[in-house]
Amino acid sequence: MFQHQNDFIRSDAKYPALVAGYGSGKTVAFCLKAILEAGRNPKKTILLAEPTFPMIRDVLQPTIEELLHELGFSYQYRASESKYTIHWKKGYSNIILRSAENWRRWAGLNLAGFGIDEAALLKDKKAWDMGLSRLRDGKHLCGWITTTPEGFNFVYDLWKDNPKNGYKLIQGRTTDNPYLPQDFIDSLYQNYDKKLISSYIHGNFVNLQHGSCYYGFDRRKNTTKNIDYNPYLPIRIAMDFNINPISAVLWQKHKEKPYIRVFDEVQLSHSGGNELMTERIAKLIKEKYPYKSPNLLQPKNKKVDMTGHYMCYPDPSGKNRHTSAFMSDHDVLRKEGFSLLVKKKAPLIIDSVNAVNKAMEFTIIDEKCKEFIKDLEQVVLKEGTRDIDKSNPERTHLTDAFRYSIDYEYPVKKPVTKTYMA
Ligand SMILES: Nc1ncnc2c1ncn2[C@@H]1O[C@H](COP(=O)(O)OP(=O)(O)OP(=O)(O)O)[C@@H](O)[C@H]1O
Ligand SMILES: [Mg+2]
Repeated sequence: MFQHQNDFIRSDAKYPALVAGYGSGKTVAFCLKAILEAGRNPKKTILLAEPTFPMIRDVLQPTIEELLHELGFSYQYRASESKYTIHWKKGYSNIILRSAENWRRWAGLNLAGFGIDEAALLKDKKAWDMGLSRLRDGKHLCGWITTTPEGFNFVYDLWKDNPKNGYKLIQGRTTDNPYLPQDFIDSLYQNYDKKLISSYIHGNFVNLQHGSCYYGFDRRKNTTKNIDYNPYLPIRIAMDFNINPISAVLWQKHKEKPYIRVFDEVQLSHSGGNELMTERIAKLIKEKYPYKSPNLLQPKNKKVDMTGHYMCYPDPSGKNRHTSAFMSDHDVLRKEGFSLLVKKKAPLIIDSVNAVNKAMEFTIIDEKCKEFIKDLEQVVLKEGTRDIDKSNPERTHLTDAFRYSIDYEYPVKKPVTKTYMA
């Protein structure tokens, strides 16, 4: 066992927390703690929670079953109750699995212990409080969490900032687990910027809920004069359909660093009447940055095939949204000859903001993109959350547009360490 796992499992605190990096062995420690507490509370019940039901199936069950096998326990699993009954020589006890988002349904349970894995993904401490209130039937009452830190949320408040009696914090790093494949660690470093590496790999609490949203941007590093548009490379058009103004950030992808070169921004305001804003902005972009066919022998009178030249990353919500009576915004863009690159669902704000911050390591922006640069510098988070503050109607449109394109081209995803059922 790793030091932080051992410290956590053997802790005699009533409420221990293991806050550690991705892949550091949290879920394994979480389940071992449960098995230990089950043994300390014969005939009683331990509740184990993941934030959502699919995580129980994909993460918790395979881990606990593998550990029970390895430790040589015999057990029964009753699917209708999501309940394991674990037997040893002279006794038994129960472990039930529940989702933390449905914490209200824990009312009425009498527990000897409970644990919440990935607790920091919960938006508040209601599940934790509910668990505490059910902790009343056993010889050794205990509650615990294991999680990767997500900034200054309730986990920070309860275990780090102002720990009350019985609360004990144990921390660990991804790299404390020598069994992780190197490519797992490499992909974490590739995916996340410095601030998130401190949190997600080193297991530190860093302030993710305060201040500038796009902290990866630095005017000195990320801006320059005169970025040329290369008419032979596709234009990437990141678009936000906010009606007033409709906004686009124009960039090109290069093979050498900086890969992302932002050469212009376009914002159009509605002048009243029945104008089709989406059509107008598309036409304006094509006029300003015409496509030059690389094929010099192209017959003059033949329509130029510009497929794939105007690559547009629209707001995913525009699929159903109509600024015209008959066509959706996406249809209008297609009619203008734009190729649409869009995910089925809007990205999670956390993921796409992380992606933009990481992308600032290889992005350069023309100084004339004044509004975009203002956005990057001035857009902030709603205090205490990881949501974007949208209270200023002039801000966020260009960075929102850019975010969709970066989430598409350079997404960040947490790699998974898989535990398979034996
Ligand atoms: N003490 C240990 N000895 C050997 N292998 C271990 C140990 N603890 C965990 N592992 C292995 O390391 C991998 C990651 O463990 P685990 O899933 O518990 O980490 P985690 O911190 O919960 O990861 P995630 O951040 O993805 O939730 C798994 O394959 C697990 O089997
Ligand atoms: Mg885990």
